[in-house]
Amino acid sequence: MAEKVSSKKFNHLPNHVAIVPDGNGRWAERRGWPRLQGHRAGVENMHRMVQYLNEYPIKYLTLYSFSSENWGRPESEVSGLFELLLEVIDSYLQEIHEKNIRMCHIGRLESLPEELQKAITQAVTLTKNNTQLTLNIALNYGGRPEIVDAVRRLITDGIKPKDITEKTFSKYLYTAGLPDVDLLIRTGDETRLSNFLLWQTAYSEYHFTKVLWPDFRKKDLDRALLSYSRRKRRFGGL
Ligand code: IPE
Ligand code: MG
Repeated sequence: MAEKVSSKKFNHLPNHVAIVPDGNGRWAERRGWPRLQGHRAGVENMHRMVQYLNEYPIKYLTLYSFSSENWGRPESEVSGLFELLLEVIDSYLQEIHEKNIRMCHIGRLESLPEELQKAITQAVTLTKNNTQLTLNIALNYGGRPEIVDAVRRLITDGIKPKDITEKTFSKYLYTAGLPDVDLLIRTGDETRLSNFLLWQTAYSEYHFTKVLWPDFRKKDLDRALLSYSRRKRRFGGL
């Protein structure tokens, strides 16, 4: 098992890091390349990021790979992205499994291409008992659809209004069993949440950077972690 990076450098580290990896398109456009080249560099960087994160005592990483709103992009970009994601799962699943990483998925699986659905289900099943990092892929995910789906399931299960607490509600979200997000990182010079983990980021710390996702490296991650470790979280208390 990989030697863990000493956490001495940081006062405390987040347990759950969520990333909005933005800026793939601009990264490619600046080079005069097609946007899909940027997405390719982006998925390669996701692989790199998993290696980095796995060196820290951080237990959960959620990556926003495709949002419920990304369907609004040209069909060629959408299908190109799905092909890339399928390719990356095929290439790295064995390695992920060997590194004892557990893969999870959040989002609406049923509207994705069948092959991609199969690959995700297979990856989740294969790695379900792994105990190192939990790599949670948000694919066809939206925070609002997630809440709507939770309400539908609560009603289907006949849960009585008086029994609906924050705790029971959380169990109906896609993220059931995963802890709230401690640190949310967004690259690509945009300072918005874009329908990502609306419920789970209620008390998260945010880190925004101008760095475009394909260029985001370990030093940028360290910068985010250092900034997090210097903050005092009060959760509304004193
Ligand atoms: C993020 O990069 C990747 C996805 C949303 C899938 P973008 O594609 O949003 O890149 P920009 O914002 O156009 O540069
Ligand atoms: Mg973008």
